[in-house]
Amino acid sequence: MPAFDDPFALQDTQLLRHRPFVNGQWVAGDGLTLAVNNPATGMPLGEADTLSPASINTAIDAAQAALPGWKAMTARERSVRMERWHDLILEHADDLARIMTLEQGKPLAEARGEILYGASFAKWFAEEGRRAYGDIIPPPQRNRRLLAMREPIGVCAAITPWNFPNAMIVRKTAPALAAGCPVILKPAESTPFSALALAELAQRAGIPPGVFNVVLGNPPDVGKAFAAHPAVRKLSFTGSTRTGRILLAQAAEQIQKVTLELGGNAPFIVFEDADFDAAVDGAIAAKFRNAGQVCVAVNRILVHENLFSRFTERFTARVAALKVGNGLDPDTDIGPLINAAAIERITALLAEAKAGGAKIHTGGQAHKLGGLYFEPTVVTQIKPQSRLWREEIFGPVVAILPFRDEAEALRLANDTEYGLASYFYSRDLGRLFRVSEGLQFGMVGVNTPVISGDCAPFGGIKASGFGREGSSHGIEDYLEYKTVWIGGI
Ligand code: SIN
Repeated sequence: MPAFDDPFALQDTQLLRHRPFVNGQWVAGDGLTLAVNNPATGMPLGEADTLSPASINTAIDAAQAALPGWKAMTARERSVRMERWHDLILEHADDLARIMTLEQGKPLAEARGEILYGASFAKWFAEEGRRAYGDIIPPPQRNRRLLAMREPIGVCAAITPWNFPNAMIVRKTAPALAAGCPVILKPAESTPFSALALAELAQRAGIPPGVFNVVLGNPPDVGKAFAAHPAVRKLSFTGSTRTGRILLAQAAEQIQKVTLELGGNAPFIVFEDADFDAAVDGAIAAKFRNAGQVCVAVNRILVHENLFSRFTERFTARVAALKVGNGLDPDTDIGPLINAAAIERITALLAEAKAGGAKIHTGGQAHKLGGLYFEPTVVTQIKPQSRLWREEIFGPVVAILPFRDEAEALRLANDTEYGLASYFYSRDLGRLFRVSEGLQFGMVGVNTPVISGDCAPFGGIKASGFGREGSSHGIEDYLEYKTVWIGGI
């Protein structure tokens, strides 16, 4: 039984690991120790060992050594192990959700939802791996034959964020595993325990040593080690556009294939013909999941001028009623932010907006609970050039502006360097097509706040990155074509 003061109090205590997982072993660190705190209380949760650049190289070597064996398995043999991984994740969903809420802060029900969402990618790609077909191409000469075979790209590196400490890992590693590629994962420093628990379950699922590795370390050092090692053939990163640019430049060294899922600045447009209640519900859901710390979270709301006052009033009332608190409390809607820098940044964005004449309808400051809690905030009368409108907020704050017509809504929505997610509400059939086609974003939610799932391509354009995760396309980046010409037939 866990000790009384064990904050994790897991049913399966073996899920809580404190060391990197390399070549099937929990290895001792030779870098700085990572201190992990509970953002809800500021209390320490535990420590994790990190690796030096030399040890990260050793881990990549182990992944490289595991490649031939994993690649040689049939797709079905790999898929059986991945299905087991999926089943184990579901079996331990309560423990995994608890670990996540403690280290990341999101409400427990959301954390549990994320575990199920993450697991869905293990299942989806276990199935997709069995359908990674090549081509038999009609040859240009009678005595020749032409094949395009699919082969795993090689060792794949993944760098994942703290806002979805489980799902982003499974979404990136499952297609690699299904394709026959070993992976080397660096999770975010603030949420290592969720990642290490996934490694424990991968091991129990029979994923062989060296095929699923988790390294912890100083982020710039890890990025450089991934970029410099010739065995790493693919890097997938979710995080800020600033870091994405650095990783993309570094990946040029070994000509690595790259997938980048970077920042967003999602517009949410409410047209005059929208289902009003559904639009208010949708805006709440698409903005406040994970306290707004979501790449696809609504960043800017645009409402037709005839609905503007009514929408602002109803939306503000709903936002003011959201309950802020510890994610372990079942009544909590909005947990803490991840760290003090997030609070400082949002405070600065709001101060700049206020100085420019913005009006705060509710919230606007750090929450009276103190610590890392921030009041859910609604702002109007904002200048479109203000940072709050132009930058990714990543917190429970949103601004609303009115628009006159469809053309103006599209112009305002597209006026951003980002191109990840966008949303709009309308019941006009022609407009559904016009606006979906006119929005310059990788994903569009029409009359729905939910735009992600195992079966759909997820990703952005412009400064939001490139490449798609999930769906039948999500495995493509992990496979190469090998063209085989056969003569003398
Ligand atoms: C993200 O913030 O990038 C993940 C959101 C999702 O998968 O729905």
